[in-house]
Amino acid sequence: MKVCLPKEIEENETRVSLIPQSVKRFTQKGIEVLVQSGAGDRSFFKNKDYEDSGAKIISSSSEVYSSGDIIIKIRTPQKQEVDQMREGSVLISLLYGTLNPEIIQKLSVKKVTAFALDSVPRITRAQSMDVLSSMSTVAGYKAVLIACENLPKFFPMLMTAAGTIAPAKVFIIGAGVAGLQAIATSKRLGAVVEAFDTRPVVKEQIESLGGRFVGLDLSGEKTEGEGGYAKEVSKELHQRELELISKQVKKADVVITTALVPGKKAPILITENMIKEMQIGSVIVDLASEQGGNCELTSPGQKVVKHGVTICGYFNLPGLMPSHASQMFSKNMESVMSHLLNKNNELNLDLNDEINKGAIITHGGAILQESIKQMLVGVH
Ligand code: NAI
Repeated sequence: MKVCLPKEIEENETRVSLIPQSVKRFTQKGIEVLVQSGAGDRSFFKNKDYEDSGAKIISSSSEVYSSGDIIIKIRTPQKQEVDQMREGSVLISLLYGTLNPEIIQKLSVKKVTAFALDSVPRITRAQSMDVLSSMSTVAGYKAVLIACENLPKFFPMLMTAAGTIAPAKVFIIGAGVAGLQAIATSKRLGAVVEAFDTRPVVKEQIESLGGRFVGLDLSGEKTEGEGGYAKEVSKELHQRELELISKQVKKADVVITTALVPGKKAPILITENMIKEMQIGSVIVDLASEQGGNCELTSPGQKVVKHGVTICGYFNLPGLMPSHASQMFSKNMESVMSHLLNKNNELNLDLNDEINKGAIITHGGAILQESIKQMLVGVH
């Protein structure tokens, strides 16, 4: 079995999908690993570290792609990367199939078995493969540090000879994995933290981290859908939500937004009018910016100052912390590999297994997910 590790080609991608420690565990089991030269450079893992772990360094991407049985990467491959893949190989990466139907089609034409990391069901058995949670953990932490860097104030309360400094007030919108990590990080830095989510089940989780849950009367509306994810809320609830957020952001020094609904554009929860009423110098970090943003004035991928408020809408926050982000991703990949291979390092694909049913998007020349097939009708 040959595993290959190509270099990511997107300009702002600094992470690598396998770190040398994981490679070592593979090579010790008798799996060959081929690494494209420089694949780990931007996350501070050198060719030499991979060689010392038993990998072979290959200079060209085409040789890496064409020699591997299993390709492990982070980003959805681009067309030229799919062109280089060997027919019948296995690809493990983020794929976001409904956003990239044409790439999925190309993969199916190449008879690639594509395992979409973004579609692994959020069940207990698959927790160790969950890159969405790993990367959200990094993003939630980094969002707080970005807020700190941009806030013209301290986070903790200080009692000094030069007077008492009040702690920063942080308001978190969306208490999923990223939001909860942002609460924990803000608390560690000494801020006073409040958080809001449309799913009432998060109240206890927020409180266990020392935050205060700001709730909303849901009037019986069901806000949680399949797999524990949020559902899009009704117009009436959305209006009441905006009123609550409007009151909260006025008094906050920092607002971190993480609200997402699967398969939808991120809901707008902070309007321009709200920003006009915020304190000047306050900071918004919009973690939903890649999905359109939770804040009306977010400039995708950038930092802007509007009405005296600094709004950070950077993309790929895990890429700003590539060593640990890669370490976590890589550990997730070890679990995916244990799931896909048997003890003899042979592919052991059970298409009826719940994890594979969710994550395998193409196999044997077919597209297995109905939603993606539907999107391609009419395109070809
Ligand atoms: P996500 O990234 O899809 O969304 C982030 C948060 O935004 C969620 O908490 C969601 O409720 C909230 N949100 C959505 N619309 C909102 C709105 N209009 N206003 C305010 N907040 C809004 O969520 P994430 O982090 O991927 O987690 C989703 C769920 O999956 C959570 O329940 C989490 O506990 C669960 N989970 C389960 C795992 C498992 O293995 N059992 C692993 C990881 C997550």
